[in-house]
Amino acid sequence: MKILITGAAGYKGTQLVDLMLASGHEVFALDDFRYNQKVLQNHFKNPKLHLRKADVCDLNSYEDWLKQCDALLPLACLTGAPVCEKNPELARAINHQSIVDSLKVLSKNQMVLFPMTNSGYGVGGEAYCDENSPLTPLSHYAKLKVETEQEVLARENSLSFRFATLFGASYRMRYDLLVNDFMWKAMDSGEIHLFEGHFRRNFLHVLDGARVYLHALNNWDQMRGQIFNVGLSSANMTKLDLCSEIQKVVPHLQITANESMKDPDKRDYVVSNQKIEMTGFSCEMTLPQGLAELKKLFILGRSKEDSNQ
Ligand SMILES: NC(=O)c1ccc[n+]([C@@H]2O[C@H](COP(=O)([O-])OP(=O)(O)OC[C@H]3O[C@@H](n4cnc5c(N)ncnc54)[C@H](O)[C@@H]3O)[C@@H](O)[C@H]2O)c1
Repeated sequence: MKILITGAAGYKGTQLVDLMLASGHEVFALDDFRYNQKVLQNHFKNPKLHLRKADVCDLNSYEDWLKQCDALLPLACLTGAPVCEKNPELARAINHQSIVDSLKVLSKNQMVLFPMTNSGYGVGGEAYCDENSPLTPLSHYAKLKVETEQEVLARENSLSFRFATLFGASYRMRYDLLVNDFMWKAMDSGEIHLFEGHFRRNFLHVLDGARVYLHALNNWDQMRGQIFNVGLSSANMTKLDLCSEIQKVVPHLQITANESMKDPDKRDYVVSNQKIEMTGFSCEMTLPQGLAELKKLFILGRSKEDSNQ
């Protein structure tokens, strides 16, 4: 298949390129490389990789690719709440409008696999959020994702993944993600200052976040037209639980819980991943495996581009 991946030089995009090429697909990888990513070189010898530096807001720069691909994976994004709060109009142009415009170019037999976030569930209450739970997005980022998901699902041959917060090592790192951020702090300063440690979140290793696209392409007739939560069911946990897991890998870690301080990120929910599991998908990577991997990655250090703040 011909797979068009926008945001291909990102945290998840680079994993997807690996996986799709390893599965024999022809990959059309597009990114504007705004974080100066030095990635994907390991595939440059592969004739099945096509690479282009372009802005998804400039439809003319990749309309030819849109017309010929079998599947579009529109990952290009200002990813995360803080960067979208800082650049609200640009976020709308990239995260929403570019996708709406690209859908108009596609014919109905072309597939679209949309990366939504389960942060659309906002504050979920006691019950597990499933795909029918109401969406109460809290941030501009999550609101744009909800709007875009509606547009994507309005066309027949699409599906949406509502992803948990990703963690683990990738070619492009993001230390603004909760697990990666906490692990960095644990390793760097030996200390985590925890606010509202009872807030619950769901996590997923970045590799499994890529594997699920392949799973959907291989099971398209069964999965098309639907929404799937995608998270690691054993990693529905509070922030305090997460710190305890990190302490197993970084025993000298000091956790200072301060319940009087407020976290600007108000997300608090537990997520049911049963629907995707029922299709035969299961995660390969556990949280402890991801933490062990991040501990090794710490040796390489980090630069300011390894974050979307
Ligand atoms: N990481 C997560 O926890 C998570 C969870 C849910 C959903 N998602 C979604 O998955 C997708 C990828 O996330 P990620 O974590 O890899 O983020 P990322 O920021 O690492 O990747 C986004 C990529 O898009 C590129 N990009 C940004 N603006 C562009 C533009 N105008 N034109 C072309 N390229 C552009 C960036 O250079 C970057 O490589 C996003 O759509 C995100 O919303 C991620």
